[in-house]
Amino acid sequence: MKKYLFLFFLITAVFASVQLFAEQKEKFGVLFPLGLDPDAYNVPEDNPITPEKIELGKMLYFDKRLSVDSTVSCATCHDPHLGFTDQDPVSEGFHQLTGTRNAPTVINSAFGLFQFWDGRAPSLEEQAKGPIQNSVEMAHSLEGATKRVAEIEGYKKYFKAAFGTDEVDIDRIVKAIATYERTVLSGNSAWDRYVYNKDDSALSESAKRGLNLFEGKANCTKCHVGFNLSDGIFHNIGVGMKAEDPDLGRFKVTNEEKDKGAFKTPILRDLQRTHPYMHDGSQKTLEEVVEFYDKGGEPNPWLDAQIKPLNLTKEERADLVAFLRSLEGDWTPPKEPKLPE
Ligand code: HEC
Ligand code: HEC
Repeated sequence: MKKYLFLFFLITAVFASVQLFAEQKEKFGVLFPLGLDPDAYNVPEDNPITPEKIELGKMLYFDKRLSVDSTVSCATCHDPHLGFTDQDPVSEGFHQLTGTRNAPTVINSAFGLFQFWDGRAPSLEEQAKGPIQNSVEMAHSLEGATKRVAEIEGYKKYFKAAFGTDEVDIDRIVKAIATYERTVLSGNSAWDRYVYNKDDSALSESAKRGLNLFEGKANCTKCHVGFNLSDGIFHNIGVGMKAEDPDLGRFKVTNEEKDKGAFKTPILRDLQRTHPYMHDGSQKTLEEVVEFYDKGGEPNPWLDAQIKPLNLTKEERADLVAFLRSLEGDWTPPKEPKLPE
């Protein structure tokens, strides 16, 4: 009898854990690497994640035919092999025209409540409409891009699988792209293993000292906080403010004086792959970034009160950089999908 009871408990336990796993899969359709918090993951109710939608979204993400002359895709500026950025100070799109801002990474963007450096898009769905119409990016119109995709016979079955019918509209295009982007996740870095797995050997002694500085004397967690190393809101740290006509960032969206020169706090994962840094790509190396903070950012009338000279020693600056390098995830770039004809 005892034996049966044990078996009963065993089966119940296995069933319960399978159920838990299945529930998580059903809700998100994705597995989260160590360190990322599923509760902070933003999936709009009207755009649930499904494997079919991920597959379609990935194709559209890589498809240059979304741009007016079929030369530029999302992956042109957010290239998986370059940390989902282009590693250029400012991006080059249609006809090699350049914009004024650095392409942020798409990695972990599903956790942000604001998209773009100035937060002007509230969701990845809304965000994706931006570059398609931007004259220096994909230079198309939403109607034009929709028509182009609708004309590609091979896409029909993928739209049907993802949305139930083969109809193509802009809403479906951006929903699919956003769904793919939500699967671009980075975690399980040395820092995650140190914090969440209590693996003391994951960080070098220098990186450990850097972590202490990051959370303490260097004040970084005032803004780069939590598992994604960002508070997700806007601060003026002075980047680009010396220019005659500086990019006023968040101010352009809110028109509020306090937002002048404020930009979204970027996440700090995979920095080795996402250089150069800052909204204008003006800082090439992590050493340069740490020096910038050490001297107190760039003084200007709207400088965030948290930014002040840190007086770090040379060793402390090196330790901070060692910590920043420990945030690299263990993901590998996805293979480019075969595109429908
Ligand atoms: C020509 C280069 C270029 C192309 C093409 C491009 N982007 Fe971007 N992307 C940028 C730049 C530059 C920014 C920042 C602009 C800003 O903040 O004003 C950006 C911002 C973003 C962001 C916001 C990330 C964040 O942390 O705020 C996401 C997400 C994104 N792009 C996804 C896409 C998708 C999806 C496509 C294809 C539909 C695409 N991009 C096409 C250059 C590009
Ligand atoms: C007051 C908030 C705040 C504090 C404190 C702060 N940061 Fe930042 N950080 C930001 C903002 C905002 C940006 C983007 C600024 C811009 O581009 O104009 C940024 C950008 C960065 C970048 C560039 C990332 C990229 O992808 O371009 C790095 C690296 C960085 N910070 C590291 C640090 C470190 C290290 C510290 C502590 C010494 C620190 N930050 C303190 C808000 C802050």
